[in-house]
Amino acid sequence: MTAYAIILAAGQGTRMKSKLYKVLHQVCGKSMVEHVLSQVKQLDPDQIVTIIGHGADKVKATLAGQTEFALQKEQLGTGHAVLQAEKILGQKQGVTLVVCGDTPLLKAATFKQLMAYHQKQQAAATILTASAPDPTGYGRIIRDRTGAVAKIVEQKDATVQEAAVQEVNTGVYCFDNQALFQALHQITNQNAQHEYYLTDVIEIFKQAKQTVAAYQMADFSESMGVNDRVALAQATALMRQRINRHLMENGVTLIDPSTTYIDADVQVGADTVIEPGVVLRGQTIIGRDCLIGAHSQISDSLLADRVTVTASYLEGAQMESGSDIGPYSHLRPQAKIGPAVHIGNFVEIKKAQIGKGTKVGHLTYVGDATLGQHINVGCGCVFVNYDGINKHHTNVGDYSFIGSASNLIAPLEIADHAYVAAGSTVTDDVAAHDMAIARGRQVNKKGYYDRYPVAQAAKQAAANEKSKNK
Ligand code: UD1
Ligand code: CA
Repeated sequence: MTAYAIILAAGQGTRMKSKLYKVLHQVCGKSMVEHVLSQVKQLDPDQIVTIIGHGADKVKATLAGQTEFALQKEQLGTGHAVLQAEKILGQKQGVTLVVCGDTPLLKAATFKQLMAYHQKQQAAATILTASAPDPTGYGRIIRDRTGAVAKIVEQKDATVQEAAVQEVNTGVYCFDNQALFQALHQITNQNAQHEYYLTDVIEIFKQAKQTVAAYQMADFSESMGVNDRVALAQATALMRQRINRHLMENGVTLIDPSTTYIDADVQVGADTVIEPGVVLRGQTIIGRDCLIGAHSQISDSLLADRVTVTASYLEGAQMESGSDIGPYSHLRPQAKIGPAVHIGNFVEIKKAQIGKGTKVGHLTYVGDATLGQHINVGCGCVFVNYDGINKHHTNVGDYSFIGSASNLIAPLEIADHAYVAAGSTVTDDVAAHDMAIARGRQVNKKGYYDRYPVAQAAKQAAANEKSKNK
């Protein structure tokens, strides 16, 4: 069977009250229309056409390479939207699946069931319906006395009786492709919203004595359409539950799934434990046997196996196996943490590579640097990488030792087995087996303490203490 798909994504989404076009609003880190497209693609249709209008360029950029596009210049309704695909699909024979871009929870499996049912019924049109606890806002499925579908009535056009019907149109349909485009030429905009409703083709098919079927899906929530921010939050909550359940079923421990926020494309390996309040975003991939501690946030990062992250913030970073970080550290883009590396607390690393077994324990900034293996970076070191205009690079060789409170002024080469004494501001390269020390010599001034107000205060405090103890 030749199959096509049309995704409706041209609407502005007025009810979102947003400058962002509706279908680009995100549900678990992925725009709604991308969710829809990724499920539609699983059916492997011969052609997918996405109808774009509002924010056409942005929607196009988001979906580029995955679908064809047809422009709906004016948003005159869902029927008018589908008609814009006529140039591409109008002459073709086959079955066409029509899906809205604002129903992010619908699964490929449901589309497949709908298509199979459509085939079995040999229908001209099959509507995917669901029974809604509260049908407000949806088109209602109106059936005749025999139980066959007669028409779909929009909320705004419904009589009180029709509005009471709980079976709703999910906005997903299968059509005989040619019959669809023929019928679309017959719809009018004589309704409450003065729009060309796609749903009106149903009555047209009925009048032409063509078979209209309805396939009712079991789970209404999967069919949820997002028209406002309230529904967006509801859809996000449902998607989050689905993502978390999938991970748990695949061996990931979530201590508290209700406070664990994981984006749709994130991957996590088995036996990894994720504590409460964790946020995993974007294209993050986490290996096996990791521990992601409470309140960590990780975006677009790659973690190998046995990595421990304690209350830290990672973006665009990599951590190799057995490495650990935190609490309260920050990996910025292009931070590459090697195997068995220890990054302690209050450390920021940007665009820097840290070799195997190296330790950066406390209160340190490493930017634009390459660190070898088994280096110890003391407390409070700064890789001084910026002169106000340009960034410069620092290299530190294997087994070197960078004493606490050192400033390494880039560009700088510190060889293997080199030693930087604590408190040094290093401006010149350091050769292997040498020690750099760059600080003023200490001078002790005899009795100077007593020249300072602190001495007076201390004297007073001691006297007070004495009289209290009497
Ligand atoms: C639509 C259905 C309704 C169904 C509901 C399911 C119609 C007339 N109504 O209503 O029966 O219960 O979906 O969620 O079809 N769009 C365009 N161009 C337009 C208008 C809309 O591309 O001119 C796109 C929108 O971007 C959106 C989709 O079509 O992705 C649905 O439009 P929307 O306005 O949300 O329709 P609903 O009122 O929800
Ligand atoms: Ca909608």
